[in-house]
Amino acid sequence: MGQWDQFLGPYKQAVDELKVKFRGMRTQFSATGSTSPIEFVTGRLKPLASIYDKCQEKGIPFEPSEQLAKVLQDIAGIRIMCQFVDDITSVVNLIRQRKDLTIIEEIDYITNNKPSGYRSYHMIVKYPVETINGEINVLVEIQIRTLAMNFWASIEHSLNYKYKGDIPEGIKLRLQRAAEAAFRLDEEMSSIRSEIQEAQAYFSENKEANSPNIQKNNEEKERE
Ligand code: GTP
Ligand code: MG
Repeated sequence: MGQWDQFLGPYKQAVDELKVKFRGMRTQFSATGSTSPIEFVTGRLKPLASIYDKCQEKGIPFEPSEQLAKVLQDIAGIRIMCQFVDDITSVVNLIRQRKDLTIIEEIDYITNNKPSGYRSYHMIVKYPVETINGEINVLVEIQIRTLAMNFWASIEHSLNYKYKGDIPEGIKLRLQRAAEAAFRLDEEMSSIRSEIQEAQAYFSENKEANSPNIQKNNEEKERE
């Protein structure tokens, strides 16, 4: 396993660093009092068992290699969840502006959803990791989606796992319908977006005002 640990090290580093960076973007938005297009961020390293399965599927040897690094573009995965469909565009633009990564590919599975019903915006980026042996560039797959798209994808993923990738036709159809329902929910939410955001701003202001600790903190800050 030593060889794998060495090979996967930079990918793990990339996931950890990018999680901090994207979570930092959210913090920066709230610090400036504006609503963040990012709701939350997760990241994962592809488990070895899944790397093995993918190698079988793609017909490449299951061993750390340049070929594997090229073919498997999602060894490092970051997922960014948004409240609204429009936020996805904002996040994509923010990522396009960054100087710490290079975009290799963008796939819009929102306009062109998959036959399964899957929707998300994917970006494959090249991210440089500083190691004790110099810089290593790794590929990272960034999936950007709404909470509704994420809900659907995680349910469908579990069903795929349960049925080992062979979901019965009846359930497939219902999943496709559920995907459309989730998208209608996203559209409905978009249409009352300003209402929702006003309410959320009001809620977080009041939450602060009503919390004695934060009030104390604010008073202390004012005294400084
Ligand atoms: P993979 O070999 O599966 O990675 O496909 P690909 O390299 O052609 O990339 P694709 O863009 O199709 O999928 C990349 C990732 O998107 C997958 O690993 C999943 O995380 C997610 N994804 C794609 N299609 C679906 C889907 O139908 N359902 C769910 N739940 N996730 C999907
Ligand atoms: Mg892939």
